[in-house]
Amino acid sequence: MIFDRVKPLDAILATAEKKGLQRTLGAFQLTMLGIGAVIGTGIFVLTSEAAQKAGPGMLLSFVLAGFVCAVAALCYSELASMVPVAGSAYTYTYAVMGELLAWMVGWALILEYAVGASAVAVGWSGYFVGLLDRGLGLHIPDAIAGGPNQGGFINLPAVVISALVTWLLVVGTTESARVNAVLVCIKVAALTLFVALSVPAMNTEHFTPLLPTGVAGMAGAAASIFFAYVGFDAVSTAAEETRDPQRNVPIGLIGSLIFCTIFYLLVAAGAIGATHDSSFAQPVRDAGGTLLEPGSLALAARCNAIGGVQPLACSHEALAHVLRSIGWVKIGNLIGLAAFLALPSVVLMMMFGQIRVFFAMARDGLLPERLAAVHPRFHTPHVMTIVTGVVVILMSAFLPVGKLVDYSNSGTLFAFAMVAISVLVLRRVDPGRRRPFRTPAVYVVAPLAIAGCAYLFFSLNLIAMLVLPVWGALGLVIYFTYSRPRSHVGRGVPD
Ligand code: ALA
Repeated sequence: MIFDRVKPLDAILATAEKKGLQRTLGAFQLTMLGIGAVIGTGIFVLTSEAAQKAGPGMLLSFVLAGFVCAVAALCYSELASMVPVAGSAYTYTYAVMGELLAWMVGWALILEYAVGASAVAVGWSGYFVGLLDRGLGLHIPDAIAGGPNQGGFINLPAVVISALVTWLLVVGTTESARVNAVLVCIKVAALTLFVALSVPAMNTEHFTPLLPTGVAGMAGAAASIFFAYVGFDAVSTAAEETRDPQRNVPIGLIGSLIFCTIFYLLVAAGAIGATHDSSFAQPVRDAGGTLLEPGSLALAARCNAIGGVQPLACSHEALAHVLRSIGWVKIGNLIGLAAFLALPSVVLMMMFGQIRVFFAMARDGLLPERLAAVHPRFHTPHVMTIVTGVVVILMSAFLPVGKLVDYSNSGTLFAFAMVAISVLVLRRVDPGRRRPFRTPAVYVVAPLAIAGCAYLFFSLNLIAMLVLPVWGALGLVIYFTYSRPRSHVGRGVPD
């Protein structure tokens, strides 16, 4: 039997208890942690990609992606309150559906976290290059300002920020709650300023045609913009360090998501409606009227040929671009500065999430324990951190943000769906267990989360859809050749 290796919930809880991490985080800090991990490249950069895919219909894309995350967050909350340990979706799946599926989820989380970290680094690079150019008049040569898809060779700023974050993680700088709170304030202040200046200037005529690329285009944009909401699950990986996790983790998960959703909808509405040009948020087409692919050379060339204010879809620094185009040049630069300061912390959060999941997998014997070796001086898992860092650096050096985001989403959607399935299975097999937080209307909410994840997954572009099975197949080969024979649960090794 390959589905027989379940790690009993009580064993997981006992291990966490023994480890005795200090429980210092409360509901407020957790919500801040969630907001810190969520607000990033998605809202600051992907708004342009979404405009190219859906035009003004991206507002509906934000609603759809937010809805899928909301139902998934309700499922996460039930498990996180029952199993408040690090490892998140990987650990839940191990307890409920066994080692093989848990391995697949952990493997998919590499897409979410490591590829996601690269995406945020590339998004940051767009703001950095724009800030230098428009703020200080320093032009970074195209060859080193973007990968081949952007007409360059290598995205050097993205490489440098990824390397810097890796180094910080190796020497042991985990972001303190206080630094996180400051960065959250910067991001929220930037978005508030954006909303305050753009929403009053909104012209509702800019919302027509609402769906220039049809429902499919809107769903495609939702599948990408989903990335903007990812990160709230980071709250659940901090469950072991939380006071009264049964109460505080659901508050942190759902609170940060609600907060971000409200902001995102206002920001999207402002970005679509604020400018004087009614076609500002419409997708860019070639001379023959064909829609151009986001992040493609053809789109970049077409954008360069447009005189005057470029459409939203052309910008690598969406929010700054909107404000500059309605006359707030300095404040646009200020928004750029906020993104420049705050996005690296999202790269850090995602890499940190990756390392935690790797750690949990190595602790279970599924990955080499050498990877989890702790540095004698810095006391950090330096090998694992450097391996993660190299992957993040390579991806961010050569791939455009849109592609990285879609690859990352394919893994995240799988993990979210597995969490929703785990909630349903656990209700069946262990109905009597204490559930400090119960997903409301679980037989509606969990299937909605599964269906929503599946719908968004099948709205991704073909390559992104193929990434998951190809990556999964590689994972299966490694599982059966390396991990399964060494698994602690399989060999009966006590934790
Ligand atoms: N939600 C995070 C971002 O948008 C990952 O950067």
